[in-house]
Amino acid sequence: MITGYDYFTAKMEDEADIDIILIGDSLGMVILGYENTLSVTMEDTKRHTGAVVRGVKNALIVADMPVKSFETKEDAILNAEALIKLGADAVKIEKRPDIAKDLVENGIEVMGHIGLTPHTSTEFKVQGKNEGTANKIIDEAIELDKAGCFSIVVECVPIDLAKKITNAVSVPTIGIGAGIECDGQVLVANDMLGLYDRLSPKFVKKYAALGDEMKKAIQNYVSDVKEKKFPEDKHSFH
Ligand code: KIV
Repeated sequence: MITGYDYFTAKMEDEADIDIILIGDSLGMVILGYENTLSVTMEDTKRHTGAVVRGVKNALIVADMPVKSFETKEDAILNAEALIKLGADAVKIEKRPDIAKDLVENGIEVMGHIGLTPHTSTEFKVQGKNEGTANKIIDEAIELDKAGCFSIVVECVPIDLAKKITNAVSVPTIGIGAGIECDGQVLVANDMLGLYDRLSPKFVKKYAALGDEMKKAIQNYVSDVKEKKFPEDKHSFH
């Protein structure tokens, strides 16, 4: 699984045979320039879900429900249905097995999310490092499984805990910063493509340096225009 927020990137991801594209609320940071995910609204998520849907033919599309959009059963159903109407196949919510159950009972596919959960975690570091917090996260996974989630994102936990969670639930776990023992993996596209330089988490493998490439290309364009090297005759009409 990888995140995607716009038509063209989602099209590239789909053509690269990714299984799942998540319109993550990392949108707030890597696309909209906010400090964290908490400023993302339903309007933002709807606009970007529509863009992703237009670029994708095969991948499963999961829309991340923004903070405060699923606090009550009524809001959760209304907002999730709006994302599904736009073409998302499923929604993702952080924790809240009660709400996951309500959504599933209303015919909406739900991906769970435990471990480091940006809406509520107070410390952005590895979660579940002692027995008590580790057991709490395992319990949360089991509850989400029972609620009917079709998969669960496990963010920023030690490998051993991710393995226990994966063994404890009947649905696939999808890890980010959770090691190799999860059933699947997810990364924020902009992190792994080198398109976001404000954070550099240890768990990200950089598969490209597209930000550097973009900057070089734009610098070349600027100097070509200043030096009257662009446009050339072949770019001009007669
Ligand atoms: O918002 C997001 O991109 C996410 C992933 C990190 C799983 O929730």
